[in-house]
Amino acid sequence: MKFNFKFIIAIFIVLYAIITLLFFNFYKEIAIKDTRQEAGSMLNSMNAIRTYIEEIQRPMIYNLIEDNQSLDKYFDARILSSTYISQYIYEKQRQNKELKYRYKLVATNPLNPIHMATDFEANILNKFRDNKIQDYFSIIKENGESYFFIAKPISRNTKACLLCHGNPADAPKRLVDQYGDTRGFYEKEGDLRAMIYLKIAISDIIEYHKDEFVTGGITMFAVFIIFIILIYIIYNKNVKLQERKEILFEHQNRLAVMGSMIGNISHQWKQPLSHLSSMLINIELLSERGKLSHEKVLSKIGDANEQISFMSNTINDFKNFFSPKEINSDFKIEDIIGQSVRLLQASLNKNNIKVIIDIEENFTFVGSRNEFVQVFVNIINNAKDAFISNKIENREILIRSYKNGGKTIVSIQNNAGEISKEVIDKIFKPYFSTKDLSVATGIGLYICKVIIERYKGDISVKNIDDGVIFKIKF
Ligand SMILES: Nc1ncnc2c1ncn2[C@@H]1O[C@H](COP(=O)(O)OP(=O)(O)O)[C@@H](O)[C@H]1O
Ligand SMILES: [Mg+2]
Repeated sequence: MKFNFKFIIAIFIVLYAIITLLFFNFYKEIAIKDTRQEAGSMLNSMNAIRTYIEEIQRPMIYNLIEDNQSLDKYFDARILSSTYISQYIYEKQRQNKELKYRYKLVATNPLNPIHMATDFEANILNKFRDNKIQDYFSIIKENGESYFFIAKPISRNTKACLLCHGNPADAPKRLVDQYGDTRGFYEKEGDLRAMIYLKIAISDIIEYHKDEFVTGGITMFAVFIIFIILIYIIYNKNVKLQERKEILFEHQNRLAVMGSMIGNISHQWKQPLSHLSSMLINIELLSERGKLSHEKVLSKIGDANEQISFMSNTINDFKNFFSPKEINSDFKIEDIIGQSVRLLQASLNKNNIKVIIDIEENFTFVGSRNEFVQVFVNIINNAKDAFISNKIENREILIRSYKNGGKTIVSIQNNAGEISKEVIDKIFKPYFSTKDLSVATGIGLYICKVIIERYKGDISVKNIDDGVIFKIKF
């Protein structure tokens, strides 16, 4: 029973671990989805800024320069380069963000070498160029760290773009002075020059959503604890119910045993009583004949005392066995077996059953003596029933106690015939009986099992040559 509860808890913990894992994974997915949305709209605004510069701001400045050549000296990336300006805006925006983004524009033919695409990036850029995809998203691994990676293309080259990226001879002098004329030129209208992307460490996303994870985790844990408590309450109720049922059965069995033994008490006393009365007659006769010597009197008193103490012992055995109150104490197995056989002595004698007791190891137990007596009485009574119903001639019960492989074993064996295969697996079940239920209850062996298991022992049965053997192991 104890084991059962542990088993349930173990399953529960495993389940909880799996659910928690799934939950965190699910939450991570949501966090990433969330990030994807936010990052996507951030890339869109970057592109919008770039478009504004390219379509509005830059043409206006060129118009101004055309009108007033002296303004040419104001040619500067800070007012004309969409890359420079959007990068700057991004940096400003980033300062207010808790989530650590990494924004970058990459090209395969950049003016500024810091914008040179890696192979991986160039590969994506080429897909954008071929119009295979409109945006790109994946989880990538770099130096053992996982990153969330999202990219979008910038808008394709317009005529205006070619001023700085077409023929270097037509490009503003300052631009060529700054970046040289080896890279960033000879682009064509409609070509896709670059893409922009955001890269965020997954661990940073989780860190950013930490509060949600913690609240979720605590909620899960609370639910888990509540469940465990509920299971425990239900389980405990069951155990209590089961225990009450067992106690009820045990009393029922004790009553049945009592009923069958009431007759035994008078039987058990018949012999010593008649012995006593014949002794008294004997004394009377001797006295009448004047032959009652002092020695004779002493010897008769000794005999009488023996009979009386036998009677007193048997009545004590019965009294003890039927006494409802009992305290746990330590006792020897030999005493328990002796007491059980004495209790049944009358019916054993009446039915010609010989009991052989072989105590190889006289174990000490701590617990309720009566519970153990009840076990032996039940098993011996069953053997008696089998002897009678199978009409066995030579009736023998052998009770042994010995040690084997570090185990304490008590075996009770009889030669009353085997138990059939269909029956033998069921005999420890409550209410199983092959006997007439007006006399039998079918709970005797069930009670034996309950009692033995209460002492962390184990009871089993096996057919042998001409009978059965019950083994109790501790
Ligand atoms: N020594 C035995 N020999 C043959 N059958 C047995 C023996 N002990 C028990 N049984 C079988 O096990 C059944 C259950 O025993 P038990 O639980 O004591 O109930 P009951 O004795 O009331 O039938 C018996 O009805 C009988 O069929
Ligand atoms: Mg029985």
